[in-house]
Amino acid sequence: MGGKLRALAIDGPAGAGKSTISEAVSRELGWLHVDTGAMFRAVALYLLDTGTDTGNREEVAAALKGAEVSCRVESGEQRILLNGEDVTEKLRAEEVGNTASAVSAYPEVRTRLLALQRSIAAAQPVVMDGRDIGTVVLPDAETKVYLTARAKVRALRRFRELIARGEPCDVLEIEKDIEERDYRDMHRKTAPLVQADDAVLVDTSDMTKDEVVRRILSLVHKNEAEPGDPA
Ligand code: DC
Repeated sequence: MGGKLRALAIDGPAGAGKSTISEAVSRELGWLHVDTGAMFRAVALYLLDTGTDTGNREEVAAALKGAEVSCRVESGEQRILLNGEDVTEKLRAEEVGNTASAVSAYPEVRTRLLALQRSIAAAQPVVMDGRDIGTVVLPDAETKVYLTARAKVRALRRFRELIARGEPCDVLEIEKDIEERDYRDMHRKTAPLVQADDAVLVDTSDMTKDEVVRRILSLVHKNEAEPGDPA
């Protein structure tokens, strides 16, 4: 194995705050934030739009041939393109997230996105968040964090986010969705959500956003100062 990759891998379950925290940390570091969940969501959007039976692996694998997912950076922010169209604003719907979770279990879907994720990280320092970044996508990442929070806390955060966006929802339903999604993401055969051996666990249940950002920044700075030493 060569040297460590100048990257921060943030993995964790749905609603743990990965996107918010990754964005804030990447801004502080001046590194690019790459939200890999958005890539899976773009694939899900395509499958929903084309009426693909997402329960049928062969059908999904065949449909994938028509989905070209790529990324563009605009004003320092990641935009996701699906067949050349910027679909970033369409990706946050719950249906898209749940479908992304379901189809991300198919190895064909994961393989499709892996090269894209690795090529972005090879080109510049990144804060990359997802489910398998520290374990599969960037196993050589300099710093790895497993970000989590209690399911109830995560459900409440997502509920507030949806309400703020004017989307009516039910907090108990969200909690049930989150628990089902966690189960699927953690129990799939290919690249399940699991804490990497060398990842630092950060439970954000009782921490403010600022505290989480500072904690993670201190891990990165330590590793940048002493490459090779565990955090
Ligand atoms: O982080 P998110 O909610 O936007 O991700 C949506 C789904 O995509 C998630 O439930 C599982 C899948 N995913 C994945 O399997 N691997 C990743 N690296 C990122 C997301």
